[in-house]
Amino acid sequence: MDILSKKATCNSHGQDSSYFQGWEEYEKNPYAEVTNPTGIIQMGLAENQLSFDLLESWLANNPEPASFKRNGKSVFRELALFQDYRGLPAFKRALADFMAEIRGNKVSFKPDNLVLMAGATSANETLIFCLAEEGDAFLIPTPYYPGFDRDLKWRTGVEIVPIHCTSSNNFQITKSALEEAYLEAQTRNLRVKGVLVTNPSNPLGTTLTRSELDLLVKFISSKGIHLISDEIYSGTVFDSPGFLSVMEVLKNQKLEGSEIAKRVHVVYSLSKDLGLPGFRVGAIYSNDEMVVGAATKMSSFGLISSQTQYLLSALLSDKKFTSNYISENQKRLRRRHDMLVAGLENAGIGCLKSNSGLFCWVDMRHLLASKTFEAEMDLWKKILFQVGLNVSPGASCHCQEPGWFRMCFANMSRETLDLAMVRLKTFIYSYNAKKLNYRDARVRSRARTSSLSNWVFRLSFDEREAEER
Ligand SMILES: Cc1ncc(COP(=O)(O)O)c(C=O)c1O
Repeated sequence: MDILSKKATCNSHGQDSSYFQGWEEYEKNPYAEVTNPTGIIQMGLAENQLSFDLLESWLANNPEPASFKRNGKSVFRELALFQDYRGLPAFKRALADFMAEIRGNKVSFKPDNLVLMAGATSANETLIFCLAEEGDAFLIPTPYYPGFDRDLKWRTGVEIVPIHCTSSNNFQITKSALEEAYLEAQTRNLRVKGVLVTNPSNPLGTTLTRSELDLLVKFISSKGIHLISDEIYSGTVFDSPGFLSVMEVLKNQKLEGSEIAKRVHVVYSLSKDLGLPGFRVGAIYSNDEMVVGAATKMSSFGLISSQTQYLLSALLSDKKFTSNYISENQKRLRRRHDMLVAGLENAGIGCLKSNSGLFCWVDMRHLLASKTFEAEMDLWKKILFQVGLNVSPGASCHCQEPGWFRMCFANMSRETLDLAMVRLKTFIYSYNAKKLNYRDARVRSRARTSSLSNWVFRLSFDEREAEER
């Protein structure tokens, strides 16, 4: 008899991938300016630490919510007691309004259609539990967030079938890639229940275009399946083209209230836009009452604590604060993004043009010894152990083309990012020097071989001439 369950012992959680291994290596030897200056710099963690001062100054100016008070009176007992598991109404209203504000108030969100969850991790898994059975499939464009293997597959038993996107069109979703993924699922005898996209994309740092979103809506309506749009990075869009939510596309196509709209679900969280992953605040937004009802019951497994809801309802209801925060945070992300792109360029490395997120999708194909995932892994190990940077290899994001890496830029100081770029440039210099030496050696040896072969040729020619004589 097995002493543990299959779930506990199987490895479909994907947590042994290089994405998580890199974190473990970082934990063993983390960079610290004074105490460990040669340690590993963490560039594999999509955290936003650029706007903490804005949050801290709001807290300093508004001490009541964080100290369990309202109008000078303690609300400790009220918050300490068991709350309605549907969430504090004031918080749901504030969160719904914040989601609309990020989308330029072009769409609105009904608080009653929101289900609060402990982060987008919980929200994504709960949605899968609501929409699919064990053995069903969801189609996801590659490259995708490595945590999805754990969040969507592990406990639900649902399969992920990749929609293969490539660098030939900047990793955009095409009709043929969607159809091929659908066909592949059918060939594997999997029933497709939906498509899940991340908009803006992790790891690409790009937003979906209107034509991609139109294509997705058309695809799910023709197949009668669901669309989950994970919009956890919606507030990080710092450059044009701006962010377009699938909710706006439904509105533009006059599909609000339709059967199709009922099959479109949005996932959100404050982990990235507000930089609060430790607070565990996420949500599902669905137009389907049944989904909202079931997900609300399931949310008992991952509620947001009442003091967090209380604090954040005050913060998010402060409209002066939210509008300043959103624009200032985007400016800071843009500056940091530009700094990484310039640093990479200086080292002779390019990346996908991006307009959002906390990372760049970096092209190091030219540094691979061969066009294989083994070579990608070799390069990753060199960057991790010799250069001292933890970046995430494309393979961990299920990218089809070896040589792409995700590099995060918002979880460290400017100085640390500078140092990371210096380390990378030094590595590229010595890499190029070695390559040049190697090439020189080859040229010399080829020259020797060719003069030898000339000599052999001449010799045999002379011999033949002598024979002929
Ligand atoms: C696309 C995406 N979805 C979900 C998550 C999980 O977020 P949370 O911290 O809210 O659980 C992440 C975290 O990196 C992510 O990148």
